[in-house]
Amino acid sequence: MGAVCHVDLLSILRRIPNHKLCMTAISASAPGKIILFGEHAVVYGRPAIAVPIHQVKAKAIIFPAPRMSPGSIFIQAPDIGMEANLIELPQDNPLAASIQVVLKELNISHPPAFKLRITSTIPLAAGMGSGAAVSAAIIRVLSNFLGQPLPDHRVSDLVFEIEKIHHGTPSGIDNTVITHGMPTFFIRDRMGHNTIATFRVAQPFTIVIADTGISSPTSITVGDVREGWRQNPDYYETLFDEVGKVVLSAREAIENGQIEDLGRLMDENHSLLGDMGVSSQELDRLVKIAKNEGALGAKLSGGGRGGNIIVLVYNTSADQIAECLRLAGAVRTLTAVIR
Ligand code: PMV
Repeated sequence: MGAVCHVDLLSILRRIPNHKLCMTAISASAPGKIILFGEHAVVYGRPAIAVPIHQVKAKAIIFPAPRMSPGSIFIQAPDIGMEANLIELPQDNPLAASIQVVLKELNISHPPAFKLRITSTIPLAAGMGSGAAVSAAIIRVLSNFLGQPLPDHRVSDLVFEIEKIHHGTPSGIDNTVITHGMPTFFIRDRMGHNTIATFRVAQPFTIVIADTGISSPTSITVGDVREGWRQNPDYYETLFDEVGKVVLSAREAIENGQIEDLGRLMDENHSLLGDMGVSSQELDRLVKIAKNEGALGAKLSGGGRGGNIIVLVYNTSADQIAECLRLAGAVRTLTAVIR
């Protein structure tokens, strides 16, 4: 049996010349993210600001499986109750697609057999980038396993390809902030060119992220905004321009440590998202409660209609405001200091 494995491995190594295969279990991870300003308008070429949330993450582990037949890939994702061989999955399955893009990128048609285990603490469909983080973790771990680690910008590009399968027209902000793991100012212009800048956080600030528990696929709200924009382009373009101004002012406020201004800008951004039709009664209710409890500002974050609100707070009132939001129905809160 051992000899058979040895022969298989040698034949695989011959098919992947010059690659250093990893024969022990290896892992890679990627953080969650939150969009602070500019969601939706960013799909139309306006700037947005997003930050990684390192308290939650997706993790992918590869166990080499020389006893499985060469080329077989077994995937376990216990969080979603999935156990399957790669070949059983449809091509547009995001886990399968994340593996395939790496094999294609590295030009490998017969990878050595392995088991891939994926776990994530990032809430699903809640605007925290769970899909992009899972893809980033898989792409990283697999390229490492195959002996050709990909640089961050390539990982980001490949995650973007996967995001397109499910989101249709993603802006690229999720894959960018999740892959680079730093506060990011992002613009994707109409030609598809990205401007990505990191920026200085002059004074760390605290946000409470509160989950409505309402699952709301981003593809639906992005599609609805597109439909609204098609029917009423002037109205939507004006809203996007307003959001763009808010984002530029927010960057300035962050770089100058003007936290009160940042709160006011969050309120403005929330109101503009409401005008785009992506807020909801529940999001508005939680935003109002947070404000009544003394928050400096609050807004929905991500695709909208469900998912999270983010609340800018003084550090000293974070626990009390988070508790109020949970009592009011938020299923989960998370406090993050942005620095
Ligand atoms: O729901 P999320 O966190 O994946 O964010 C979506 C952000 C949008 O601007 C609505 C879409 C995009 O691709 O940027």
